[in-house]
Amino acid sequence: MILEESRGGDLHGTYRVVRAGSVSGEIRPPGDKSISHRAVIFGGIAAGRTEITGFLDSADCEGTLRAFLSMGVTANRLSPHHLILESPGLANLSEPPDLLDFGNSGTAVRLMTGLLSGVPGFRVLTGDASLRSRPMRRVTEPLGQMGAVIDGRKDGSLLPLAVRGASLRPITYDNRHRSAQVKSAILLAGLSASGPTTVVEEVQTRDHTERLLPRFGGRVEVRQGRVTVWPGPLFGARIAVPADISSAAFFIALALLAPGSRLTLSGVGLNPTRTAFLDILGLMGAAIDIRPDPAGEGGEPFGTLALSFGELTACSVPLSMIPSAIDEIPILAVLAAFARGRTEIRGAGELRVKESDRISAMVSALRTVGVEVEEFPDGLAIMGEGPDRTLRGGRIDSHHDHRIAMAMAVLATRLPPGESLLITGTDFVETSFPGFPGLFNAVAHP
Ligand code: S3P
Repeated sequence: MILEESRGGDLHGTYRVVRAGSVSGEIRPPGDKSISHRAVIFGGIAAGRTEITGFLDSADCEGTLRAFLSMGVTANRLSPHHLILESPGLANLSEPPDLLDFGNSGTAVRLMTGLLSGVPGFRVLTGDASLRSRPMRRVTEPLGQMGAVIDGRKDGSLLPLAVRGASLRPITYDNRHRSAQVKSAILLAGLSASGPTTVVEEVQTRDHTERLLPRFGGRVEVRQGRVTVWPGPLFGARIAVPADISSAAFFIALALLAPGSRLTLSGVGLNPTRTAFLDILGLMGAAIDIRPDPAGEGGEPFGTLALSFGELTACSVPLSMIPSAIDEIPILAVLAAFARGRTEIRGAGELRVKESDRISAMVSALRTVGVEVEEFPDGLAIMGEGPDRTLRGGRIDSHHDHRIAMAMAVLATRLPPGESLLITGTDFVETSFPGFPGLFNAVAHP
């Protein structure tokens, strides 16, 4: 077995990973996290029946579902990935009897803060230790401009946040954080505002909110970097969630790094605001066969990726690609260690306020295994030494961050024979990728 998992305990789960000889097979990665959250949120406020297939049954998305169940929405679970929601509609959501706990999920808590700002009633939103240290001012400040009544620690900068639904006025807001969470929080508040609300984007961020809202009858206009939403009721819809390209990214990397590999990933979301990782790999010389599925046209596009081993060359990642590859930077840094030359990733300061400080976590993990890295306030540079580079095993801390844990598990498959890497804090992989060790071992062989 390449990856041995141990759950729980003082270390919050560990992976011990050894070298893989070959990588092969055909898999469908789990459902998209961003789209699963939104499918439940829009289904939870759309009057009537919403059917969701391909739902990601991860800790993060289950937390969003639980929040709606405590506000009067009912769910019929046909399978872990297939559910039917019945909602009384946005204005009729009830007051939950207790805190809404969103665990590790920044997406859930920020979108829900926006949404609930305009819904009558009182709600308190919180999360785990990581989420309680992440910045919330980026949503509470624009929502305050709309008239939202929100209080929280450090004057509304940190969870828990207490939200009392209020009458909201429309605003036009510049999305200077380049954050899809901020954009979506404001657009969701806009559903209850007294007129059209606009978010202006210099660089486009993931556009799942804009694509999905019209499926529920919402009025949205996207033009020249401006997204406008009109207030109004939503109605139940049927949503098919594609596989998550951010989860697929770890398997793409696994195949690119293993000589002789043959791996097929099916049903993978190919929304152009999410595929910069593939574009960057193209710049680095990877030959990835991308076959879009015609069934995805008009909604959320998806398709099949066929992967094999490829030698990579270093690159300077274009700044404009960073927002659309932000979740893939940890695994990109791993790939860069096996490219020839120095890869520089800048303009990615947002990584410091993700589930962990991902710049510092990756710099320290890569140094532990013998990769030369330079750290910047807004990124890192990685010295690549080609596919046969030397590495050493040891122990690294994922800082309770799912993407750090999975990225380093992929790296460990290239350790010298006889060495192993112990990764701690791996229980948090459940937040986005339940079943990761099983799929990993299904395609990576001794
Ligand atoms: C997400 C947006 C991104 C991303 C996160 C999911 C979303 O965060 O990192 O994993 O679903 O809107 P930011 O909006 O903070 O960049």
